[in-house]
Amino acid sequence: MTSENTLTDQAQQILIDNDRGGYTVPTAGLYPYQWNWDSAVAAFGFAQFDVERAWVELETLFQGQWADGMVPHILFHKNDPGYFPGPDVWACEGPIPSSGIIQPPIAATMARFVWEQDREMGQARMAVLYPKMLAWHNWIMRWRLHMGAVCTTHPWETGRDNAPDWDKTMARMDASDVGEYTRRDTAHVNSEDRPTKFDYDRYIKLVQLGRRLKWDQAAMMAESPFRVADPTMTFTTLRAARDLHAVGEALGKDVSQIAADIKRLEAGVSTLWNKDLGGFDSRDVHSGEWAGCVSNASYLCWFAGVENPAMLARLRDVLERVPYPVPSNDPDAETFDARRYWRGPTWAIVNMLIGLGLKDMGHEKEAQALAKKTADLIAEHGFAEYFDPFSGDAAGGGSFTWTAAVWLAWAGRD
Ligand code: DGY
Repeated sequence: MTSENTLTDQAQQILIDNDRGGYTVPTAGLYPYQWNWDSAVAAFGFAQFDVERAWVELETLFQGQWADGMVPHILFHKNDPGYFPGPDVWACEGPIPSSGIIQPPIAATMARFVWEQDREMGQARMAVLYPKMLAWHNWIMRWRLHMGAVCTTHPWETGRDNAPDWDKTMARMDASDVGEYTRRDTAHVNSEDRPTKFDYDRYIKLVQLGRRLKWDQAAMMAESPFRVADPTMTFTTLRAARDLHAVGEALGKDVSQIAADIKRLEAGVSTLWNKDLGGFDSRDVHSGEWAGCVSNASYLCWFAGVENPAMLARLRDVLERVPYPVPSNDPDAETFDARRYWRGPTWAIVNMLIGLGLKDMGHEKEAQALAKKTADLIAEHGFAEYFDPFSGDAAGGGSFTWTAAVWLAWAGRD
């Protein structure tokens, strides 16, 4: 057995071990529930060795869909006191206890990949999922657009919790009345790898606001201090729209509305181009201010089918200069912190999305380089949640579902 086989066996075992029956937790302890985009990536990983289980993962996720189409970022299937904030704090009323926010809508893209592996047998499964995925897409188009770009209403929605993209917006927020609460994350992993208390107070403050407004999107739009048009949400929504369009066509549906949405989202992408920075950036909708950040999400343009020579030049530089790319923050930025979550570390999941996009857009050489570097990183440092981009050291949680899935579906394949 080669070491590659061993890694593939290990990756499969991680998915199997993190399976809680119909859904997969990102990692035991730190994240004991079903997370939306983690779960979509898990489905892509499962599809490499158990396509039936891949469909079930997606189907379970959509069991938590709210009546208005929203698909929550966490489904609290079974209560676990090891995580905060749990279902009692969010106080949501969906079909499964859940959070009240979303996550990057990559489920449609991952579902399309699963379908490609199971085209005939999966036809009926896809036909059931399609209207649900479309309803979520419509929800985003209805509630989250600003000049065609997709907004996040909580740092947790982007998955990039403590990215410097939110610093200015968070600094303007008053969280002095957030009250007492006990974090659980730092009981599981090194606090140096996690967001600060300043950030956490504001995360919780935004949850309290949503709860008070009963997660009513119109009320939140009027009252929330946090509304940022962001590359993660915009690029993943645009990509999902393209996948829904392709799947819809194959299913014989009328896709004219999705085609119009794609045009709106493409126009939105151009509103995220920060000319002075020379990169795709986040934009605070209330203040109109740029975040001034090139993050790993900025490189998701190709994933969304958007070409950009300046981003390609930047990427080539990062691939050459950083031993384990792509760092979640510009290494030259003052805010760069090689270990702290989304302020510097490399995330295999984002690398996969960037790499798939590069390949789609004909940048074969960069796509292969990134896949190889990601494979080396995982082979040398394990299936960690994220990694120091310079030393490669593992950080955050271990035996991580999406890192294992990335190995199976992308990095470990060639
Ligand atoms: C957490 O609890 O750290 C998560 O990122 C929220 O989704």
